Amino acid sequence: MTANSRIYLDHSATTPLDPKALRKMQPYFTEKFGNPASIHTYGQEALKAVDEAREAVAEFLDATNSEIFFTSGATEANNMVLRGTMEKRIEEGNHFITSKIEHPSILETARSLEKDGFMASYLPVDKEGRVSKESVQKAITKKTVLVSIMYANNEVGAIQPIKEIGKLIRKENKKRLKEGLPEIYFHVDAVQGINFLDCSVKRLRCHLLSLSGHKFYGPKGIGVLYKQEGVALKAQATGGHQERNVRAGTSNVPGIIGLAEALKIANKNREKSSAKVFELKKYLIQKIKDQIPNIKVNSPESDNKGLPNIANISFPGAEGESILLKLDFAGIAVSTGSACSSTSLEPSHVLLAQRLTFKEAHSSVRFSLGKHNTKKEINYLMKHLPKIIEDLRKMSPIK
Ligand SMILES: Cc1ncc(COP(=O)(O)O)c(C=O)c1O
Repeated sequence: MTANSRIYLDHSATTPLDPKALRKMQPYFTEKFGNPASIHTYGQEALKAVDEAREAVAEFLDATNSEIFFTSGATEANNMVLRGTMEKRIEEGNHFITSKIEHPSILETARSLEKDGFMASYLPVDKEGRVSKESVQKAITKKTVLVSIMYANNEVGAIQPIKEIGKLIRKENKKRLKEGLPEIYFHVDAVQGINFLDCSVKRLRCHLLSLSGHKFYGPKGIGVLYKQEGVALKAQATGGHQERNVRAGTSNVPGIIGLAEALKIANKNREKSSAKVFELKKYLIQKIKDQIPNIKVNSPESDNKGLPNIANISFPGAEGESILLKLDFAGIAVSTGSACSSTSLEPSHVLLAQRLTFKEAHSSVRFSLGKHNTKKEINYLMKHLPKIIEDLRKMSPIK
């Protein structure tokens, strides 16, 4: 590793665009620039490409084309789900369930819905950052119309028992139908799971699912909302008739093409790249355990409970932001939490929900690996990290 090259260990924040996806996108910025809503040949050429991309996404999710809606990203898809379904179904029920460790695009929307008079339950997590199916069952009331739980957490990588929760909600809905109670929709924010986990909406038994292009080597500014046929949702962006009146606005054609191509690549390489990053994650954690005293691993270490690529680790006595800056100076990019909160000094809501102390939460760093990372890069990281932690601990007034 040369002193000038940089190492990227922040793939949960975003991933580089796959060159193959970029090549597919390029003509749709230039000669094939048509608007898919136009009737003429330029428009129809773009529409055909969007339709093919929609089909690829539908196939990946085990859904039908008419259940796929393109959005500007997962933040928009998550807003559409929470606001859109709760506002649409206000007469049926005003209660929804989510967890304490969701992404801010869910949690902030939930809080804003509460201000509008809706009722929310925020489920706790265990020490590994996992929600239990039993807590979902307990929180359900006669007024519940939506449960929204993420597939895998973006800060610690904890995989949630989505299939079990999906099964439970399906069983509950059968009972509710007989009792004349409103159906409960199940939404999954699958953003962090796409590269590694089974995303068949049939097997997950979800009604709604969100994903985001830039987390799986696709472009930024494009996402998908899967909405099962018949699921009622009030459009949040109104205007033209794009996306069958569910999401108005001119389609981001190059983004859609790039997202579909990246999804195909992710699907093809899933097993190989999962196994590779998991080996690297285990190697990294072991090196840190061997070379740095008094650390705490906040991510589940087994691959059935945690994503294979995220290692969130606390280094008590050293401040997370300082570690990040010193590593950046050495050419290594990591994060101290979700990308969206990286400018805030509040301790992570996820780590606090896992019952870490403020001191532990403030000293945490997220290493999130990608398919191009190598052992050599981890060795380079480990040339710097022990010394950085030792120096920061010496300087720290909090012992
Ligand atoms: C779990 C999760 N949900 C939603 C989002 C938001 O996605 P987007 O960047 O497409 O708005 C992110 C991005 O960090 C995420 O990690």
